[in-house]
Formats: sequence, structure tokens, C-alpha cells
Amino acid sequence: MTCGLPYVNGPCHIAHLRTYVPADIFVRYLRKMGQEVVFISGSDTHGTPITVKAEEEGVSPAEVMEKYHQHFVEFFPKIGINFSNYGSTDHPFNHARTVQIMEALRENGYIYAKEIKLPYCPNCDRFLPDRYQRGICPHCGSSARGDECDQGCGRYLEPGELMDPRCSICGTKPVMRETRHLFLKLTAFEDFLREYLPAMDGTEIARNYALKWVESGLKDWNITRNLDWGVKVPGEEELVYYVWVDAPIGYIASTEEWAERTGGDWEYYWKGPGHLIHFIGPGIIYHHCLFWPSMLHGAGYSVADAVIASGTMKVEGHVFSKSRGYVIWVEEDYLDKGLDPDALRYYIASYTGHTRDLDFNWATYGEKVNKELVGTLGNFLYRALLFAQRNYGEIPGGTVEQEVKEEVEKAIESIR
Ligand code: 2FM
Ligand code: ZN
Repeated sequence: MTCGLPYVNGPCHIAHLRTYVPADIFVRYLRKMGQEVVFISGSDTHGTPITVKAEEEGVSPAEVMEKYHQHFVEFFPKIGINFSNYGSTDHPFNHARTVQIMEALRENGYIYAKEIKLPYCPNCDRFLPDRYQRGICPHCGSSARGDECDQGCGRYLEPGELMDPRCSICGTKPVMRETRHLFLKLTAFEDFLREYLPAMDGTEIARNYALKWVESGLKDWNITRNLDWGVKVPGEEELVYYVWVDAPIGYIASTEEWAERTGGDWEYYWKGPGHLIHFIGPGIIYHHCLFWPSMLHGAGYSVADAVIASGTMKVEGHVFSKSRGYVIWVEEDYLDKGLDPDALRYYIASYTGHTRDLDFNWATYGEKVNKELVGTLGNFLYRALLFAQRNYGEIPGGTVEQEVKEEVEKAIESIR
């Protein structure tokens, strides 16, 4: 079982928990049912989410990575989540696994190089990958980033697609400059995806979105960036692999870390008969249902049995947004105030279905805690224990009546 890797460019916020808490509950459930589960996550340490943050703070990308990686390592147990391994995409295992998988894809004929023209900022004297550009989304016309329409339709954008780009650091209009890049032949995986996706288990939204994208036509995928920070591309001085290449490979590398520590067998899950389940947020279905299975399949690895995409997160009725302040920083705004981690887990788990919008608001939180946890559950336990104490001085032994037993069995079955 994997959980999407958080970018380590800031602390844990409530939208992270939208995925991690249900995933953790599912893992606990599977274990109760007698399944052996390796629960994997880790820090997503590369790409422009980290380098842009480092430039804003005037520190190195490594410093940003280390600071927030440490935060997440310490944070997850505080909210009751204990991964079998919480790794890092900057771990040597991940650098090595990324190079190995890309080499396998190249040997199998799925990777080619091409000269393309990309935006270059003459003022900053560099190419402008992903978050170094702001412009207009070609699909919906909203203001967008180079890698994603972050304020409009949410679509993933390929390098060169953003319209009217500007350098996000200095605002200069870039010039187009030729540069050599590597591409994954996504188009070669169309038949595979058409067969794989309809049979893939998990949430309907993941399956249906992915199939719709296959229907609307696949395009080859630019898998390199002109950056220093990331997994270096052997033989290509100027390039690192795109963060969305080495991030999911981090699931494998984190499993390798687990295997090294425990003597477990990572290949059982990634090349053998073990089952793979990905829990992800709603914005990254594209990467997990198109790019990732194609990479795995093309390099001779197992693909996921299920992709479980959660619904979106809202804060006080507004679309979750760090920049607009509709965010709850879980440590600072919640745990540090002395509030109970389980009460937040309960809110997230019980508010609505896994694929619906989940609104966090303090008034509802207060009501749910007071009425449902304290009033209903707490009161029931209190009365039952008090009754036992008064009448027997202990919890009495005895046999469970058949009728009660049946109700318990029914409840277990309905939860299953
Ligand atoms: O969207 C994100 O926040 C990414 N850091 C998720 C990566 S998931 C996995 F593929 F690594
Ligand atoms: Zn858009």
C-alpha cells in the first residue's frame, strides 16, 4: 500500500490528511483481517516545487528538503500514522532505481531524444521549467503554472504548452531556445492502457478519468528538465529527470529501504505476486494511471491492482488553497493547540464518502466531537462501564447471546 509522497516544501496540511488518514484506516483494517501489509510513503524531494521554495527562502534545495523531510518523519506518528517505511526520493536507492528503470525503458525502445524549443529567461539566464513559468492555460484560459493549470481546470501541462509565459521569478517575457530532451513514447502504451485501466480496481473516478484521457489521444511525455536538482540523466550534462519520473519510483525505493531494514522482499510486491494499491489525491490521477503504469509495464515491473483517489478538500467551504489562506497546518493550527489527533482522524473518516468533497470547518468539528464522540460514544461507554462497576464491581464474565453475536457478525460483514 502506498500513499502519495508529499513535496517537502512546507509542513503537513489538512489536504494531505485527506489521503493519509483513510489510507491508514484501510491498512489497519487489512491487518485486522489477517493481511500482511507493507505501508509505504516518503518525501518527494525534487523538482521545481522544492527549488522555487529554496529560491524564495534564499537557501539551497537540500536545506529545504532536509528541514521538511524531518518535519514529516516526526509528524506522521503524532497523527497515528506509522508507515512500514517513510523514505525519500533523494535516497541513493531512488537515484539508482530511477536510472535502472529509465535504462530498461530505453533498451526496450520506449525512450527517444529530441531537440525542442522551450522558454528561456534572458534576464535570469536559464530555462524556465514547470513552476518557473506563469501564463495562460491553453485549455481553459485561466492563469496557470508551467506544469499545471493550478487556478482553473487543474489539467496537467506539458513543457511548451502554457500560453503567454512569463518568468515567475522576474516577470520577464522568455525567448524560445532550442534544447535537447528525452521523451517517453506514451503513445506506444495505448493498447496496454486500454486493457489495463478497465480492469484496474479502486475508485471509479481514477479509472474513468484515465480512460477518458486515453480516448482523447495520448501524447509522448517529456521526461527531462533543465535543472541541477534531481536525478541526473546519465550522459546528459544539463538534464535531470522530471520529478514525476523519480517520485513514483520512490515508492519502489522506499520499499527497498524497508526490505533492507527488515529482511523483507521488495520484489515480491514490485515484480512478483504481491498486490499493489495506491492511495492518491484527486489531482494526480493522470500521473498514476497513465505515466506510471506505462513506465512500470515498459520496464518489466508489476502494475497496481488498485488506484484509490480521494475527493477534494475544502476549508470553511472554500477550495483548499495555501496561497489564499484556506488551509489548516495540522501541527501549528491543530496539534500544537492541544487538540486530539484521533478527533481529527474521526472527522476526516466520518464526514463524507471517500470520493466526495470534504469540508473542514471548525463549527462542524466542534459539533461532531461534542455530539458524536463525547455525547454518543463517550456517553455509551461511560454508562456501560458505570453499570458494570455499580452492579458487579468489574466487567462480568459470561457468554454472549446468540442474537447479539449475530448482530456483531453482521456489522463485521457490512464493514468488510
Ligand atoms: O502532487 C504531489 O504532491 C506529489 N508530490 C505527489 C507524488 S506521488 C508519487 F508519485 F510520488
Ligand atoms: Zn485550465
